[in-house]
Amino acid sequence: MWNSNQLTDQLKIKYPIIQAGMAGGITTPELVAAVSNAGGLGNVGAGYMRAEDMRHTIRAIHKLTTQPFGVNVFNPEYPETKQDYIDQTNDLLSPIRKELGVAPVSISEDTPSTLFAEQIDVLLEENVPVISFTFGIPSKEMIQKLKAANKILIGTATTVEEAIMNEASGMDMVVVQGSEAGGHRGTFNGSFEKAMIGTVALVPQVVDRVNIPVIAAGGIMDGRGVLASVILGAQGVQMGTAFVTSVESGAKKQHKEAILNSAEDGPVMTSAFSGKPARGVENKFITSMKQHEQQLPDYPIQNTMTNAIRKEAAKQNKPEYMSLWSGQNTRLSQNKSADQIISDIVSQIRNISQGF
Ligand SMILES: Cc1cc2nc3c(=O)[nH]c(=O)nc-3n(C[C@H](O)[C@H](O)[C@H](O)COP(=O)(O)O)c2cc1C
Repeated sequence: MWNSNQLTDQLKIKYPIIQAGMAGGITTPELVAAVSNAGGLGNVGAGYMRAEDMRHTIRAIHKLTTQPFGVNVFNPEYPETKQDYIDQTNDLLSPIRKELGVAPVSISEDTPSTLFAEQIDVLLEENVPVISFTFGIPSKEMIQKLKAANKILIGTATTVEEAIMNEASGMDMVVVQGSEAGGHRGTFNGSFEKAMIGTVALVPQVVDRVNIPVIAAGGIMDGRGVLASVILGAQGVQMGTAFVTSVESGAKKQHKEAILNSAEDGPVMTSAFSGKPARGVENKFITSMKQHEQQLPDYPIQNTMTNAIRKEAAKQNKPEYMSLWSGQNTRLSQNKSADQIISDIVSQIRNISQGF
């Protein structure tokens, strides 16, 4: 049975379909609860959330579902502050800020590790059975603390080596993201370019080298993608783009429309919004910043520098300046409820399986 394995047993879910934790307001309590109520695993994208906001969100979800759900957080990163790059980028962004009426941003010394530690404290205090990480692996001490509290931990990998590192660290499962994936991939051990490996090539190579359950991600939108992943040896899938356009998603309407109207060559890789390569539907901001990508401040500094632009652009209905994160399988996107997305996958798999 495609839907009964170690992963479904450990996560206590009916179907091995995980809705990606997507930071930035997409994963509303309604979306997370709808996915979990439909038999999948809903996930809060808490990467950018303050700890107390995360606590409120978790409590709101508990009011909407009694089923398990997870929270996704970002392992902190400490980029070098290159003042030259910051000054140059401020000059580049200045005309856009003027057009939108946005004030220049001052970059303060960020304390990502404080936010991360506070988020973990909330996750230990609140009843959240599953915690997933991207952008690296947390410290040994933190992993031990979470495991002692019986949390199921899910890491993220974009190469075989990263998957092996996740297993060695004590992660219970690993999300394996192919290069089709929308948004930021979790590459943390080596170059982003060399880690651009497609889902069909990456998943079986990881499955052959780790013993923990593998969760395939990148370009999976329907029953065909889920069944293909299972055939490649994955025990589950993680889907992002398919849920961005769902009814319950908190994505901005321009973001949903961009995905729904995009062809397969619409989403491109860009570092322009955040300083870290990510896949999103191409727009004016991406094309005009392309030639400057090598001289941008690293993530998360660049992310902070474009934050107000992205927010204001959404308010003023200017999608040309918004980050429209999306995977490559856009033609399969639909504006359906999360419950419908999952029940369609289940019936598609039933139909395909009859033909074997
Ligand atoms: C809008 C968007 C935001 C995302 N944010 C996160 C995030 O906060 N954390 C994370 O681990 N992955 C994030 N991802 C990547 C997903 O985990 C997943 O790998 C990806 O969506 C799979 O490809 P797909 O979009 O083709 O389904 C995001 C993806 C999208 C589309």
